[in-house]
Amino acid sequence: MHHTLNILGIETSCDETAVAIFEGEPTAGQGRILAERVASQIPTHARFGGIVPEVASREHLAALPGLVAETMREAGLHWRDLHGIAVTAGPGLMGALLVGVAFARAAGRAAGLPVFPIHHMEGHLLAPGIAAALPPFPFISLLVSGGHTMLVRVDGIGRYTVIGQTIDDAAGECFDKSARLLGLPYPGGPEIARLAAGGDARRFPLPRPMLQHDNLNFSFSGLKTAVMLATKSCAHEPDEQWKHDLAAAIEAAITEVLIAKSVRACRQHGVAHLVIAGGVAANQTLRARLQAEASQYGLSIHLPDPRYCTDNGAMIAFACYCQVIADRHPPEAWDARARWPLQTVSAH
Ligand code: KG4
Ligand code: ZN
Repeated sequence: MHHTLNILGIETSCDETAVAIFEGEPTAGQGRILAERVASQIPTHARFGGIVPEVASREHLAALPGLVAETMREAGLHWRDLHGIAVTAGPGLMGALLVGVAFARAAGRAAGLPVFPIHHMEGHLLAPGIAAALPPFPFISLLVSGGHTMLVRVDGIGRYTVIGQTIDDAAGECFDKSARLLGLPYPGGPEIARLAAGGDARRFPLPRPMLQHDNLNFSFSGLKTAVMLATKSCAHEPDEQWKHDLAAAIEAAITEVLIAKSVRACRQHGVAHLVIAGGVAANQTLRARLQAEASQYGLSIHLPDPRYCTDNGAMIAFACYCQVIADRHPPEAWDARARWPLQTVSAH
């Protein structure tokens, strides 16, 4: 008999309530998403210019049970057809995480299923494997989201070494804060990208923080300050072209630093495969530039589909599937963790 592994994935760490079911081959690392839902809270939080944690928890609570029911129905599965439940256990907003974790535990108990605590960044990191084969190990992964910017050396499932990270703001945070300075709504990344399309990046020579430093770390707070000064000096311009030009300059500066440091990481580690994942990896300019420059650096680039770059349930279900086929078992005791260093996942 040929049994597939069906994993329900639940993600509630931030401002998307997301659910998906991954159906995987029992031995090979392949499979497909049977059904998925992402309910974004962006319209709710946009009114406040950022995420309000208490509001996020309440929205997850209201949305999650219905999304799970819809996803199960669309996949045509009953609880008994599942092999396990994967849930983001951290890092993230504690109240938001607890909604997903409590639901997963209750469902796991009732249906007699194991519950797997998944690290949110491990989900992002493995996301290119959802719809295509993962690159061979070792590979380097640049993880760029609203809360994190890090370079990770991946030597296997659960074998992650953080080799570089931001010393202040995350790349997504820099997009979000810059957008705010330009009077754009939250989240800023897609808004800056939209404005940038009609802009000339050369008008504003923004700094490329840490580009010349011979290490793998990032810093984005100085860039944010430069953007603030530029907005002040342009506030009285008669037309709005400067906003397009500044948005293009912001996108170019962030993109250039991210690519340069990723290439440096691959060179230093003698690795030819580069993954870029997390919300900022949905950025089309970043994707296009990387693809265009990859051959010149001798790199092969692995990008998740844009919908698997921003937060989703598929990456959580898939990360769990990878653990199961790698024979990694859920720990006996675990809890939601607002902070959870990625390197410690395998120590679990
Ligand atoms: O991974 P994600 O969905 O949530 C976190 O785990 O943080 O990442 C969200 C971040 C936000 O900062 C958002 O502005 C950014 O990803 N983002 C983008 C784009 N889409 C989302 N940044 C640049 N360009 C985009 N197209
Ligand atoms: Zn994320």
